[in-house]
Amino acid sequence: MLSKAAARNFFLVGTFLCFGAFVLLTIDTISKVPAQTNAENLTDSAIRGKHIFETNNCMGCHTILGEGAYYAPELTKTYPKRGAEFIRLMLTDPEKLYPGQRKMVKYDFNEQEKDDVIAFLKWISEMDLNGFPAEPDLMQ
Ligand code: HEC
Repeated sequence: MLSKAAARNFFLVGTFLCFGAFVLLTIDTISKVPAQTNAENLTDSAIRGKHIFETNNCMGCHTILGEGAYYAPELTKTYPKRGAEFIRLMLTDPEKLYPGQRKMVKYDFNEQEKDDVIAFLKWISEMDLNGFPAEPDLMQ
């Protein structure tokens, strides 16, 4: 049985050690963000694409980087999976690609805005996300 003083010391040392580890790991994570996100590749177009993404409520239906709603596909790896032209078609006339199915909003984007969204999705897809999203474990 610990004495009261020993229990207090145990609590204090444990708390400070864990807090110190938390601070160090946080600093380590933050210092890796620019390299893992390829911050140097963040073009003006990709930044405009992010604003378009946010102001048009894409996350009301989609997830990206795992966040958002679960009605429509995860968009983190859409760029390498589908390619720019498919995304452009989706942003032009989604009904044409999936007639009579779940609906995506038909947006009235001009070509520049579509390029910007595509640049944003490309930049997102190139991030090092420590393996997210995981490949499905399909049996051979
Ligand atoms: C009302 C819900 C809704 C909103 C809002 C929405 N989408 Fe979609 N989106 C969908 C659905 C549903 C699909 C899938 C079509 C299907 O498989 O039937 C889709 C598919 C896509 C695809 C193709 C993904 C793939 O892997 O096939 C892209 C790219 C996409 N959406 C981009 C966007 C962007 C960018 C925005 C915002 C500007 C947006 N979506 C807003 C519902 C939505």
